[in-house]
Amino acid sequence: MNVQTPVNPDVAKIADLFERTRGRTTRLVAPLTAEDMMLQSMQDASPAKWHLAHTTWFFEEFILRKRLPDYQSPDDRFAVLFNSYYVQAGPRHARDKRGLISRPDLEAVRSYRLHVEDSLRALLEAGRDDTPEIADLVELGCHHEMQHQELLVTDLLHGLSYNPLLPAYLDPATPPKRRPAELQFERFDGGLHSFGFDGGGFHFDCEGPRHQAFVAPFALANRPVTNREWIAFMRDGGYDSAPLWLMDGFTRAQRDDWQHPLYWWQQDGAWWSFTLRGAQPVDLDAPVVHVSYYEADAFARWAGARLPTEHELELAAQDTPITGNFVDDGHLIPLPGAGLWGDVWNWTQSAYAAYPGFKPAEGAIGEYNGKFMVNQFVLRGGSCATPVEQMRPTYRTFFYPHQRWQMLGLRLAKDV
Ligand code: AVJ
Ligand code: FE
Repeated sequence: MNVQTPVNPDVAKIADLFERTRGRTTRLVAPLTAEDMMLQSMQDASPAKWHLAHTTWFFEEFILRKRLPDYQSPDDRFAVLFNSYYVQAGPRHARDKRGLISRPDLEAVRSYRLHVEDSLRALLEAGRDDTPEIADLVELGCHHEMQHQELLVTDLLHGLSYNPLLPAYLDPATPPKRRPAELQFERFDGGLHSFGFDGGGFHFDCEGPRHQAFVAPFALANRPVTNREWIAFMRDGGYDSAPLWLMDGFTRAQRDDWQHPLYWWQQDGAWWSFTLRGAQPVDLDAPVVHVSYYEADAFARWAGARLPTEHELELAAQDTPITGNFVDDGHLIPLPGAGLWGDVWNWTQSAYAAYPGFKPAEGAIGEYNGKFMVNQFVLRGGSCATPVEQMRPTYRTFFYPHQRWQMLGLRLAKDV
């Protein structure tokens, strides 16, 4: 007989989410060696070992230290190493030097994870007055860790891409051969609509407040741009055709000699790309991936179209069930036949900015999203590296317009 107070079903749901999320991280790093987990190829990318520790620090800093007065960290100095950017949480190790953290070694990071997991399980089950707040914070910590799961594999891809042996994270599997849909533009009525998160359930602060916006009638492509279409743009001289480009984009493309998406090369007249499944011939029917905002914007202009706004994509997402190629499907590459969700993120022409009335939380946790609301663009829809549990019609991620290493693609829109 269980004589304990029954756990509130919501707490049980969060405890499950916690186990599932921590388990996914463990699964994602299972194919990696300790050396793989040290790679840091640029300052935008972090070593897998750092992701393991940072996602653990997040739970420690924002829950255990705040809620358990006698909580003992295995090492208080980890806070300096594994705090990413929370200025109000204290000093931080330099971001571009994360690849130099050989100590604590991988074993110590693993036991840090286990220590924090044990403490959190006990806290969640303790049945305290503040259990509902703790459960909400654990949920936030899980969604944070899911964001890092995507970063972990895309950062790894970037690191591995510098190795001339082109090591594969996963064996090259034969993906299911789906044909992409014929390109069609679906028409949407304009009008005054509501956007942003409303109602129950988890969401990041930047998804709200709910607000109204007027959208003019528009048409949206039924699928992302494919590699076949991207190669047509390349062959047409798209990368060197200044009138197609924004000035900042053209300067960057010329300076860094962009002539194709990141990770591509030509061999015996055929295009190849480096993927999480090693070197692969470019699949002409698959969505193009690893293109910057600048490239996506130039392509759309070349195609006589434009990038959608985030409100347009949110309208389309509201009546599209969330199915597609996500991280737990295990492909880890975009596949032909992509729809609105999964495979590749869609660049939008919307600046990542506050919705009307947005106010971040007080204190360090308020630094999570709000302080990044300048100079970045919103992407929608998730990718083959995203956990599907994160996806909602209001979910926005954001990157700088020159960045390419995430699973970034595009879908065309038109005025009607
Ligand atoms: C939303 C993916 C841009 O990479 O900094 C991770 C996710 N926020 N930890 C980022 C995030 C805090 C964020 N992006
Ligand atoms: Fe983080």
